[in-house]
Order: sequence, then C-alpha cells, then structure tokens
Amino acid sequence: MPSPKNSSLDEAEAMPVFEAIRRAKRLRLFEPSLGVLVFVVVTVFVICCFFYSDNRYSGLRFGFLEQPQRFAWLRIKGSTEQRRVEFLGDKGGGCDLFDGEWVWDESYPLYQSKDCSFLDEGFRCSENGRRDLYYTKWRWQPKSCNLPRFNATLMLGKLRNKRIVFAGDSIGRNQWESLLCLLSSGVPNKESIYEVNGSPITKHKGFLVFKFKDFNCTVEYYRAPFLVLQSRPPKGAPENIRTTLKIDTMDWNSEKWRDADILVLNTGHWWNYEKTIRGGCYFQEGKKVKLEMQVEDAYKQSIQTVLNWIQNTVNPSKTQIFFRTLAPVHFRGGDWKNGGNCHMETLPELGSSLVPNDNWLQFKIVNAVLSAHTNISETKKFMVLNVTQMTAHRKDGHSSIYYLGRTVGPVVPHRRQDCSHWCLPGVPDTWNEILYALLLKHEAAHTGNL
Ligand SMILES: *[C@@H]1O[C@H](CO)[C@@H](O)[C@H](O)[C@H]1NC(C)=O
Ligand SMILES: *[C@@H]1O[C@H](CO)[C@@H](O)[C@H](O)[C@H]1NC(C)=O
Ligand SMILES: *[C@@H]1O[C@H](CO)[C@@H](O)[C@H](O)[C@H]1NC(C)=O
Ligand SMILES: *[C@@H]1O[C@H](CO)[C@@H](O)[C@H](O)[C@H]1NC(C)=O
Repeated sequence: MPSPKNSSLDEAEAMPVFEAIRRAKRLRLFEPSLGVLVFVVVTVFVICCFFYSDNRYSGLRFGFLEQPQRFAWLRIKGSTEQRRVEFLGDKGGGCDLFDGEWVWDESYPLYQSKDCSFLDEGFRCSENGRRDLYYTKWRWQPKSCNLPRFNATLMLGKLRNKRIVFAGDSIGRNQWESLLCLLSSGVPNKESIYEVNGSPITKHKGFLVFKFKDFNCTVEYYRAPFLVLQSRPPKGAPENIRTTLKIDTMDWNSEKWRDADILVLNTGHWWNYEKTIRGGCYFQEGKKVKLEMQVEDAYKQSIQTVLNWIQNTVNPSKTQIFFRTLAPVHFRGGDWKNGGNCHMETLPELGSSLVPNDNWLQFKIVNAVLSAHTNISETKKFMVLNVTQMTAHRKDGHSSIYYLGRTVGPVVPHRRQDCSHWCLPGVPDTWNEILYALLLKHEAAHTGNL
C-alpha cells in the first residue's frame, strides 16, 4: 500500500488523464469526426503506455481508487452537521438511527481484513482480488443525530464477563465476524482470542464461541437459518417429506442463547420455496405436517414463535435482545442461480433505493409482526435493528466474484456470484456500530451516567 503522501501525489498526476478521457468522450458525442476518433485512439494508446511502462502503476491504481475528490460534494451535503445532536447525549434519545444516508468518510474502514484472522475467506474481498476500495469508505449518518465512533476498548470493557450471541443464517455470521474484527482491533495480543473448542472459522454448521481472554467475554455464533426447529418429519409421513420445520418450536440451540447477555437474532434468506418445500422440507404445526402451507405464512408464524419465546422464556433484566431485519440481496439481471450479478457495482445507490420484491415481501411480514409488538411494555424486551432500508442502498458491498479465496482469486463474472453476503470490512460493520451505540445508550439509561 502506498503511504498517504504518495497516493495524493499520484492522484494529482492521475486527474488530467481521466479528465482527458472525459473530454474525449464528450467530443465524440457531439462531433463524430475522424479527427476526434484519431484523438481518442491516440489518447487511449498513450494512457495504456503510461500504465504499462510506469512502475508506479500499482501505487497509481490505489491512489486513484482512493481519491476522495469525487465525493467532495457529499461533504457539502453534510454541512447541516452542526444541528445534529449526539446520540449518546441527553437530547439524542428520540433519534431514529435507521433514518439517514451514507456519507463518504476517509477515516474508514475501521480495520483491515488482513489484520483480522477471524474472517472466513468468502468475505475477504480485497484480498481475493477486488481492486476498488470505495465500498470500505462509507459511514452511516443518521438524519438527526451523530453516532459515536466505534471504540473497541470501550466495548470490550462493557462486555467484561458477558456473552454476546448471534443466532441466525449466514448473514448473521457475516455480522458476527465483523464484530470479531472490530473488537479484536482493540486487542494487541491476538493470541488471547480463541475459539473455545479450537474449531476453525469456515462455513460452519453448528456453532462457534470465541473468547476474549483478558475480558472473560465470549462472542458466539449459532447457525439457525430459520430460528425455529428443523428436524425429522413425524413417523409415517409420506416419503417426499424429508424434513419439517416446526414453526411453533424454537431451534434446539435456543437453550444456549437464552442466557446470553446480548442476543442478536436474524432470519429471512432461507424462507423461500427453493430452500424449503422444493428440497422436501415442509412445515409442521404440533404433530401435523401442513402440506398446503405457504412459505410466507410459515415465516410469519415462526417470527411469532420467536417473539413468544422472548416474552415467555427470556429474562429481560438479564438478556438484551436485538432482532435484525433482512439485509436485501442485489442480483442484477437474474437471481443467484441464473446469472444475477453485482460485480460491476462500485458505488452505493445514493438516491432512493428499492428493496427487491421478494425481500420486500419478507420485510413487510416481519415488520408487521414486530410492529405489533413494539408497544411500551414490549420495547423493553427487544429492539429492532431495522437495517433493511439502509442496507438496500449498498449494492456495492457484496462479495460478488470475490468469494473463493486468495488462491483462486475472482471467479469469471458469468459464473455464480454472491450478491447476498457482504465484503468485510464493509456493510455489516455499520450494523455493529449501531448495535454498539444502542448498547451504550441502553447502559447509560440504566446507570444514569452520560
Ligand atoms: C476508547 O475507550 C477507552 C476506554 O474507555 C479510552 O481510554 C480511549 O481514550 C478511547 N479511545 C478513543 C479514541 O476515544
Ligand atoms: C467469566 O464470565 C462468566 C459469564 O460469562 C462468569 O460466569 C464467570 O464467573 C466469569 N469469570 C470470572 C473469573 O470472572
Ligand atoms: C423500519 O423502518 C421502516 C422505514 O425505514 C419503517 O417503515 C418500519 O416501520 C420500521 N420497522 C420497525 C419494526 O421499526
Ligand atoms: C402489546 O402488544 C402485544 C401483542 O399485540 C399484546 O399482547 C400486549 O398486551 C400489548 N401490551 C400493551 C401494554 O398494550
């Protein structure tokens, strides 16, 4: 990596070249003459020679990729900042953290993937060959308040002698790994952080428990894509029923989540025909398999089951619960199995942003159930990490063709792409920054300081 000084020098050199391309393009549009064509060809040739022969090419490349000028206007937009209150301050309480915008911030990312050994390969986009680093540079700015900057030392102090548990699908694992990286960036002795059973981080079934020894705290992940129980069908069920989802029963591991100090739940991406009925997984209520039940109804009832479990089983004075809403996918021109892609996306959608239709349906279902439960008595029992809308803007943040690891490198674009999971550092860091802010706020409200 070039030093900051070098890269700003390289930028100064790079700008006229790109300006020339832009001018050439403009000319060609308005005066399609042979002279212009020759000019374009010569310019392209010169630029190619410049890149090819210059041994500072890699420095220039990074210099260009990190150039901040392109986003200068965003800072002007942020000039209303003075009127924003601090979320952790006295007046910050009413601020909706999920209503805001993405702003360019040179001080991001909060860590580098190469410094974090807790990431699985599928999320290490820049190490796997992704060259643009724009996606690491966006900070979430709520409309009416400022978030505190993430401080790993402070958070680890708050987590002392505690357990924080993530349960859900692999996007939950994405967020969990992000938190491991964020927290470990504040620990000089990385040897003091380890998986309690010595398990490696991979696309893991089951669960992983990381201990931060110096703080006696654990950061845990339980794979439970549906949150409710998936297991064998009842005896005598027809052969095409291979498993059933007991939509009125929690996942077996929920015993282990129940006593966590902080619990972050999510479910959504597996609630579709492909991942259930098509594979012989039907829905079951009580002892009855409901062959006719639609996925949407089953999803809705399962969320209800999770909320009932929270009401009846979890001790609200011990456990703080967060329910993270769905993180939208961004497959352009198809879906995950038929050529949908996102590898050309290098910038967020800064204007209005649409949640894809099927994701939107799921979000509406969850939102309806959750909203019905967020009356005064129940807000104490769980909080919603309402990330769907903010995340919908981030079509640039996915692993796309950079999910197969360093040795393989990028896959060819027409192969299957990953437009569901997120590069790290990246978007899930923001969910964790909001989680951090909410935890600090909650603590302040309870201890009366701040
Ligand atoms: C982070 O928190 C620790 C512990 O409260 C504090 O000593 C340190 O100054 C904080 N760091 C920053 C950059 O604010
Ligand atoms: C470590 O934390 C656990 C809770 O996660 C607690 O039961 C135990 O007493 C703590 N150990 C020490 C030495 O404080
Ligand atoms: C989540 O945010 C959306 C707007 O972004 C809002 O319509 C919805 O009611 C919120 N849901 C919950 C459960 O807070
Ligand atoms: C809150 O909503 C739930 C679900 O609709 C209901 O059971 C509960 O009685 C409500 N509590 C209050 C205080 O309104």
